[in-house]
Amino acid sequence: MKVILAGSTGFIGRETLNQCLRNPAITSVVALSRRDLPAHDKLQVTLMKDFVSYSASVRENVKDAEACIWTIGLIPSTAFKDDDGATARRVSIEYTMLAAEAFEETCRKPFRFIYVSGAGAEQDQTKSLWVMGDYRRIRGLVESELLNFAKAHSDFTSYIVRPAMVISNEATLHSLFYRLGPSVRVDAISKFMVELAVKGDDKIVWENSEIK
Ligand SMILES: NC(=O)c1ccc[n+]([C@@H]2O[C@H](COP(=O)([O-])OP(=O)(O)OC[C@H]3O[C@@H](n4cnc5c(N)ncnc54)[C@H](OP(=O)(O)O)[C@@H]3O)[C@@H](O)[C@H]2O)c1
Repeated sequence: MKVILAGSTGFIGRETLNQCLRNPAITSVVALSRRDLPAHDKLQVTLMKDFVSYSASVRENVKDAEACIWTIGLIPSTAFKDDDGATARRVSIEYTMLAAEAFEETCRKPFRFIYVSGAGAEQDQTKSLWVMGDYRRIRGLVESELLNFAKAHSDFTSYIVRPAMVISNEATLHSLFYRLGPSVRVDAISKFMVELAVKGDDKIVWENSEIK
């Protein structure tokens, strides 16, 4: 099967790309990226200036895909740094939903969209939150929009994956420290998302402990 991967230059996306390329059920990966990636027989890099418009040539590249793993996103420390969250909202909400719409219009059906959200995402936009409130609400809003989108399109399934801290495969001081709290190894979450893309599941929302 053909799988679309967004965010393949990032920490989680890089490992997810490796897992996709290794998986025999995946014959082709279309990486939507702002930057080029090392060549591989199974990989087709589709360079995107922004993630707002899906040109005819981009649609041509993704039209045979049956799933997307979406790992584009901002981490809490940078999301609200410069512009009071405008970039965070554009990248998190607008980019994700425009992609869902483009893939629903263009790709093979049934289609699976796997979204990397985060632990503590809050779908209830009225709830007051003590820690990282803006960030968790934006995540929750994307989740609800994706779930509503899937309700409105019977041949489109949105999966929500909520990791806590994602740690590297190597036993560095950093990863050993974070392993003490809620966390998941990057190879584990990546493998898990690739399996979801290939096989699907009746369960839609996956918490950190379930991913592990
Ligand atoms: N790492 C964790 O511990 C953790 C835990 C929970 C949830 N998450 C979530 O998982 C997702 C991926 O995390 P990560 O650690 O892999 O992050 P990362 O290493 O910072 O990678 C982010 C990816 O998003 C892309 N991106 C960022 N801003 C963009 C923009 N304005 N336009 C287009 N692409 C953009 C980057 O592309 P470029 O290379 O082109 O910049 C990169 O591919 C994020 O949503 C993050 O919040 C991460």
